[in-house]
Amino acid sequence: MSEKGNVGKLDFPFGVDFDLVHGIMKDPQNHVVRLASSMRGHYKDAKALEALVALGDPVHYEVFEYRIPEQPGQLQFCISKTYPGTVGGECFMTKGHYHKVPDTAEIYLCLRGEGWMLMKRSDGSAARERFLPGRMVYVPPLWGHRTVNSGDEPLISFCVYPGEAGHNYGDIEKEGFPERVFKRSGKVEFVPSSKAG
Ligand code: PA5
Ligand code: NI
Repeated sequence: MSEKGNVGKLDFPFGVDFDLVHGIMKDPQNHVVRLASSMRGHYKDAKALEALVALGDPVHYEVFEYRIPEQPGQLQFCISKTYPGTVGGECFMTKGHYHKVPDTAEIYLCLRGEGWMLMKRSDGSAARERFLPGRMVYVPPLWGHRTVNSGDEPLISFCVYPGEAGHNYGDIEKEGFPERVFKRSGKVEFVPSSKAG
């Protein structure tokens, strides 16, 4: 994430404790919190988002991570936790990004909850993969990715990606993802962004 400092050469082994049942990283070095107010421009219904901000500005997602040097050969890892909820019917989600070094992949191992990984390339090709506990999603190089929580509890994944990958939010913010995920009366719907607005 952009907020993360670079701690220089990391060349001594270490361990980190996780609670895999609850999807918790113990003693993270960095904690990113995205509130409703940090998500302006991402949901279709801007008015519904402002209503949610006025109602208490709930957390949409959090990321818990370690400060690993942003260098080839290193591995970044984190816990990504997206809360359940909707904005004008659209499921809570992450901003989504390409990697700054575009030809770097990522794996997400879902620990808890359910939802979808939306993925797209800059050439317009698109894909989605299901998140369920115990299911791993492989995001190949060049694919932008966004997590969507379509369930009723937090959607939690453990993510691993190359040290140098970085995050590029700007390009996908301009392009948008090809589809949006809505949940109405308990039913999940995928709507082409061209139709959803
Ligand atoms: O690197 C990743 O893909 C994840 O750790 C994400 O950063 C995390 O899920 C939050 O999403 P975003 O970075 O799109 O705000
Ligand atoms: Ni990523």
